[in-house]
Amino acid sequence: MNYHLKKMMNGGSRNERCILVTGGAGYIGSHTTLQLLLEGYKVVVVDSLDNSEEEAVRRVVELAGSKNGLNLYFYKIDICKKDDLERCFQLFRFDAVIHFAGLKAVGESVAKPLHYYFNNLVGTINLFELMANYGCKKLVFSSSATVYGQPASVPCTEDFPVEVLNPYGRTKLFIEEITRDLQKADSDWRIILLRYFNPVGAHPSGRIGEDPRGVPNNLMPYVQQVAVGRRTELTVFGNDYNTKDGTGVRDFIHVQDLATGHSAALQKLFNCSDIGCTAYNLGTGRGTSVLEMVAAFERACGKKIPLRIADRRPGDASEVYAATEKAERELGWKAQNGIDEMCRDQWNWASKNPWGYRHAHSDRPDNEQAFTERVSHVVRGQAVTT
Ligand code: NAD
Ligand code: UFG
Repeated sequence: MNYHLKKMMNGGSRNERCILVTGGAGYIGSHTTLQLLLEGYKVVVVDSLDNSEEEAVRRVVELAGSKNGLNLYFYKIDICKKDDLERCFQLFRFDAVIHFAGLKAVGESVAKPLHYYFNNLVGTINLFELMANYGCKKLVFSSSATVYGQPASVPCTEDFPVEVLNPYGRTKLFIEEITRDLQKADSDWRIILLRYFNPVGAHPSGRIGEDPRGVPNNLMPYVQQVAVGRRTELTVFGNDYNTKDGTGVRDFIHVQDLATGHSAALQKLFNCSDIGCTAYNLGTGRGTSVLEMVAAFERACGKKIPLRIADRRPGDASEVYAATEKAERELGWKAQNGIDEMCRDQWNWASKNPWGYRHAHSDRPDNEQAFTERVSHVVRGQAVTT
């Protein structure tokens, strides 16, 4: 077994709450991990790095600062390998789990359904079994607005009927159903399902952000790559929808707001014994069209984004945005940022990291030696490398 534990630094008090974050090296996971560290949590990240880079974790440590950065532990683990994941449960007593890990490309899920069902469902079942066995029954799960399918009306409230249009979406829906069954069978479980709308933006430092592999599937990563010159033009999928300007309308939400949303959800799990299994939308409640979003990004980057109108993308809904009242009322959380802040921060990240994390190694020579020393020290100390 190539078991690879990296404790980023040594330290942290025994009394602080310890959160397991699966998929914590990814886009939303890295921002949320940073938020939790800054709030004083101890965080254990497990990630296979299937769709992310270790550099993101390094930068989270850097942004968390010398005190809070001490509380991050990182394991390169595929959660589908249950024995590997169990080693984490043996090493730490988790107070709660935030489960981001999963594959998320809709088109790829249509082409490779078994790969998606295996990765997303087997990994999740392994995680839930270990949580049950080790007595950690507080969970925040990354669900998605995709469960609303083509909503009959907007805004989408959490009690709308669920309908999914592709294997990726079905993995989200199946996992939601599994959590409902789990909680019904054992009322000790406290579970929050967060249905994200369209996450965009980056940490205001420009040090962490979204870094998709291959051709981006989603609108804003694509726009970003046009702006930095990696792609020539944006293809707009359809301008004949029954919307304000004919293009699709979505509820874009700043990833920093998502991060605070996870923190609010954790608080709810700790403070509310009868939460059961409850879904919350994380969105802004505002619909923005594709063309409005492109215009906002043009303002942020000071460049024109060349675009071409094409046919609708199969399976796309015309207009989707969130009802936010339930999250405001019950989690005490509300998104703070608008599309200008989202585009400003995304451009800051893009302009500083036009090729994402992968070409970033030259910008950390000063930190590298200290980082490596800490890691190798801790790996020996923990004796978990086999
Ligand atoms: P991401 O791909 O950046 O992060 C997911 C992380 O999970 C990656 O780092 C990946 O390496 C890891 N991972 C995948 N399979 C794994 C496995 N078997 N074991 C360990 N790690 C594994 O994606 P993201 O945008 O940060 O999304 C996080 C979660 O939120 C996902 O579950 C996604 O489906 C969900 N979500 C995302 C969006 C979106 O538009 N970004 C919208 C709604 C829901
Ligand atoms: N779009 C373009 N050109 C592109 C990409 C997207 O015009 O190159 C349009 C789409 O047609 C749509 C809008 O931009 O009208 C948003 O598309 P995204 O692919 O960015 O986002 P979706 O709303 O289709 O889906 C995303 C994730 C899903 C997730 C959903 C809700 O891909 O997994 O947000 O969270 F479920």
